[in-house]
Amino acid sequence: PETITVQELANRMAARVPDVVKSLMKLGVMATATQSIDADTAEIVVEEFGHKSKRVSEGDVEIGLEGVVDADADMRTRPPVVTIMGHVDHGKTSLLDALRSTSVAAGEAGGITQHIGAYQVTLPSGERMTFIDTPGHEAFTAMRARGAQVTDIVVLVVAADDGVMPQTIEAIRHAKAANVPIIVAINKIDRPDANPTRVRSELLQYDIAVEEMGGETQDVEVSALKREGLDRLQEAILLQAEILDLKANPDRSAEGAVIESRLDRGRGPVATILVQKGTLKQGDIVVAGTEQGRVRAMLDEHGKPVTSAGPSVPVEILGMSGVPSAGEAFVVVEDEGRAREIAEFRQRRLRETNAVAGAAARGTLDQMLA
Ligand code: GTP
Ligand code: MG
Repeated sequence: PETITVQELANRMAARVPDVVKSLMKLGVMATATQSIDADTAEIVVEEFGHKSKRVSEGDVEIGLEGVVDADADMRTRPPVVTIMGHVDHGKTSLLDALRSTSVAAGEAGGITQHIGAYQVTLPSGERMTFIDTPGHEAFTAMRARGAQVTDIVVLVVAADDGVMPQTIEAIRHAKAANVPIIVAINKIDRPDANPTRVRSELLQYDIAVEEMGGETQDVEVSALKREGLDRLQEAILLQAEILDLKANPDRSAEGAVIESRLDRGRGPVATILVQKGTLKQGDIVVAGTEQGRVRAMLDEHGKPVTSAGPSVPVEILGMSGVPSAGEAFVVVEDEGRAREIAEFRQRRLRETNAVAGAAARGTLDQMLA
């Protein structure tokens, strides 16, 4: 029969079983390590892992060895990807804007920065970091639910005059659940009623012990308004990144995640994506969720065309068949036929899953009415 067990598939790809199971879940297939999946599904999973698959005989999926594992020698340090979270009005957007203004590239572009959901800051030292401007915590949750772990570091913004609030606590929970280190930015220290010490002690209740409290979480006092403490915050981010030892292989086909997307009247579907592995090039064929297409153009956060984007680099891409959902993984595939095949496969799965869910809902409704 045309099947392969999840375990065997993982072995052949040198991948971890939980990662294969997660990948299957995204396709709407629930399977454990010992369960068998059909060759068609296996092929899709193989592509998702960035490998080439070849059906050598009926029932056997052979995985090309090319790019199976990134060799240590190919790994290069990549910039950290930082998400700013915190309670309403505590100054997330202000802090992002202030940080962006420190970028050497911001000056170059004449200050005209287009709003895209993610952007890169290049420090005068040449070091880079990527910030994700999540519209809210729901987006973060949605991304995690889809298995897209894009954030390396969370900067938790707490207003010094307001202290720990419900969404602060929620952000802490999200970061802890995702196992992402937190850096606390105590903002609005310019306010006369600012009380950073109170913030530090309140955080203790939520298992965030900053250095001053004998813990290991870095905290920095900042004022987004007065642009104070930004350099120290950036230093803290770089230090945390160093500890995390973030690496990726830039010399392979690209993989990453969709940060946000929209339908532009003139340009069609526009997706902001974050490259996590490899290098995305103009002309590459990508699949993201149920959508696919050839990358017709790529733009950086200043709206400037670029022809390639390496690890941790966010770009807007044009040329997709539709609007992929935020948090969806994207992967580069070899040809358009394959891209369509995967996208159609997923569309079919989605329809089937929805049909099953619909039938189940009708079932319970029938029972209720009976
Ligand atoms: P939401 O996106 O609505 O959750 O808010 P936010 O966290 O993005 O806060 P935002 O940056 O919009 O700032 C909220 C208010 O606080 C604005 O009026 C800012 O001007 C003010 N603010 C932000 N940072 C500072 C600061 O460092 N000092 C002072 N005094 N005010 C600040
Ligand atoms: Mg905001």
